[in-house]
Amino acid sequence: MTILLTGGTGKTSLRVARLLQDGNISFLLASRRGATAAPDGMPAVNFNWLDSSTFENPFTHSLSNQETISAIYLISPEIAEPANSMNDFIDFAVQKHKVGRFVLLAGNSIEQGGIHVGKVWQHLVDIGVEYCVIRATWFMERMSEQEHLPMIKNDNKLYTACGDGKAAFISATDVAAVVFQALTERTPQHCDYRVIAKKLSSVLGRTIEHVRLSPEDNIRRYVESGFPEHYAKLLTWLETSTAQGAEERLTGDVERVTGRPPMLFDDWVRLHKNVWNH
Ligand SMILES: NC(=O)c1ccc[n+]([C@@H]2O[C@H](COP(=O)([O-])OP(=O)(O)OC[C@H]3O[C@@H](n4cnc5c(N)ncnc54)[C@H](OP(=O)(O)O)[C@@H]3O)[C@@H](O)[C@H]2O)c1
Repeated sequence: MTILLTGGTGKTSLRVARLLQDGNISFLLASRRGATAAPDGMPAVNFNWLDSSTFENPFTHSLSNQETISAIYLISPEIAEPANSMNDFIDFAVQKHKVGRFVLLAGNSIEQGGIHVGKVWQHLVDIGVEYCVIRATWFMERMSEQEHLPMIKNDNKLYTACGDGKAAFISATDVAAVVFQALTERTPQHCDYRVIAKKLSSVLGRTIEHVRLSPEDNIRRYVESGFPEHYAKLLTWLETSTAQGAEERLTGDVERVTGRPPMLFDDWVRLHKNVWNH
């Protein structure tokens, strides 16, 4: 059994890869940059969701002990409508290579058959494969590895269109722990987990001001910092949904699946404190 991890250079796939490595389970990372961006010693292959000529690459990559790919972790490309290319690859993997299980990472607001990867979720149901959809709330790592890092570090500011909406956060490490279970469970999967952790308060020891932006200003900020416009709009829609209470929910799915509670925001900040210090 080999597990293919798309988004292979990304936050969750690399964490899942480490868990698979620790468990002696064969895996292969797949992304546009492939082996050039993979950590030393991790097998990787060039793969582009938007270029079907790369779909065969993971299956022709030589795997140890003539293993075959049995499960795939699905991370969407950052485009407005990812479902068509993702569903094409899923069909290719099922029909040509008999892959039987898929684990899809989605935002918390995604619904089966709805926008974005909601249509991938629907497709997995329609074609009758084993699947698990992991719907995650905002990642804590948006503040330590992604768009909010420079502003928090340099200006003590966090710009969002979330208004005064309450948001729960989850660490990519907890998401990866749930994904790992979903990929490797022996029993057939048809599941949908919502992974969320409680946000408590910052322990940074200095005031980080939350700057409440209008949706228009928020889109402008994202675009100015290099995000494609459709993605700036998607993030802003998610943030304005948060302002309206969409992320104001807690579930016990991390603990139910992994046997331990998710990391709390305060503990996560303590662990990564150096990231925001000069
Ligand atoms: N951040 C959040 O708060 C949050 C919350 C809930 C859900 N999510 C979901 O999490 C997913 C992102 O997961 P992540 O954070 O683990 O990944 P990530 O760190 O954002 O990295 C994205 C990965 O996708 C690869 N990629 C991008 N475009 C590609 C393409 N056209 N073809 C092949 N690979 C491509 C990138 O590698 P290359 O550049 O090498 O191709 C990279 O490995 C998104 O679907 C998002 O909706 C995020």
